[in-house]
Amino acid sequence: MKIGSFELPNHLFVAPMAGVTDRPFRQLCKALGAGYAVSEMVTSRKDLWNSLKTSRRANHEGEAGPIAVQIAGTDAAMMAEAAAYNIDRGAQIIDINMGCPAKKVCNKWAGSALMQDEALALQIVEAVVAACVPRGVPVTLKMRTGWCQTHKNAVALARAAESAGVQMVTVHGRTREQGYGGQAEYDTIAAVKAALRIPVVANGDITSPEKAREVLRRTGADALMIGRAAQGRPWIFREIAHFLATGEPLAPPLVVEVQRLLLEHLQDHYALYGEYTGVRSARKHIGWYVKALPGGEAFRAHMNTLEDCRTQVQAVADFFDELGVRMDRMPAAVMHTSDTQDEEHMELAA
Ligand SMILES: Cc1cc2nc3c(=O)[nH]c(=O)nc-3n(C[C@H](O)[C@H](O)[C@H](O)COP(=O)(O)O)c2cc1C
Repeated sequence: MKIGSFELPNHLFVAPMAGVTDRPFRQLCKALGAGYAVSEMVTSRKDLWNSLKTSRRANHEGEAGPIAVQIAGTDAAMMAEAAAYNIDRGAQIIDINMGCPAKKVCNKWAGSALMQDEALALQIVEAVVAACVPRGVPVTLKMRTGWCQTHKNAVALARAAESAGVQMVTVHGRTREQGYGGQAEYDTIAAVKAALRIPVVANGDITSPEKAREVLRRTGADALMIGRAAQGRPWIFREIAHFLATGEPLAPPLVVEVQRLLLEHLQDHYALYGEYTGVRSARKHIGWYVKALPGGEAFRAHMNTLEDCRTQVQAVADFFDELGVRMDRMPAAVMHTSDTQDEEHMELAA
């Protein structure tokens, strides 16, 4: 699997998720079998580039390459400038976001709203390609199946993007109108795959190794992208890889391994965000790890009362010590894609 000249170790990707797939989480997913990760989207608005949020997103220190940065915006020249800015800061691949349904993004005519204006979408693609390709940086595109059920234009847009020089397309199998509701459909992704020569990545509702195999079969896609199912379960990538290679399920991880992974994750998280923000933003990750575990709900509530790194780390260590007395391995996966979280994402700013 290649993007431009970058050879990827496998075809299992972690999806960009604003507020989730920061550098520590991307690194963790890569260490546990994801072959590729894209950063959370960075706005094309220059006035926000120096904000703490954007500068954290543009920080790739120590991240295993290729470094892929997603940009979002509505103006072709600004998007080209944003691409160049991120290349100067280490981006080796630029991904254009035409998949995000967040209201704050779409109201400004960005994200998946762009799919409604193919001419503007193409102008953006052309401007970004012109800014990146002379510098040896491939451009990729992430989109949905279309604007709404009656306007599924993913095939037309993907074809035009390929002609304009885009080197990989990811399709989330929902329309913009669907948000995160209903179910992802894979026929449109299969149609995009059949229409293009460049690699096509299938995304949406891949929650288990069995589903991964099914989506590969139904779409013929070159790669799979996994988002929500990796939250609190970053080892899903090695589980899928093992199942695709052998047809056998991989045993769930040992409780002690998950304890170690989470404690390391927390240290990386605090290092990026500092104590105040780090402790608070780590709560959602901890909540996902423990959600399906015995006592997990009560522990989540307790976590919200802890306000410093030391007590948060100690509480997590104690929780998994106690769990380890009851069981050696984590229970087989229980899926938890939370509606609240998706609603929150709909409100997220770039
Ligand atoms: C909390 C959250 C944040 C997201 N942020 C982004 C984003 O910044 N850029 C993007 O292209 N998609 C974003 N998405 C969409 C995901 O990349 C992915 O397309 C979607 O979640 C479907 O995949 P899944 O069913 O495996 O989660 C986000 C999704 C969630 C749940």
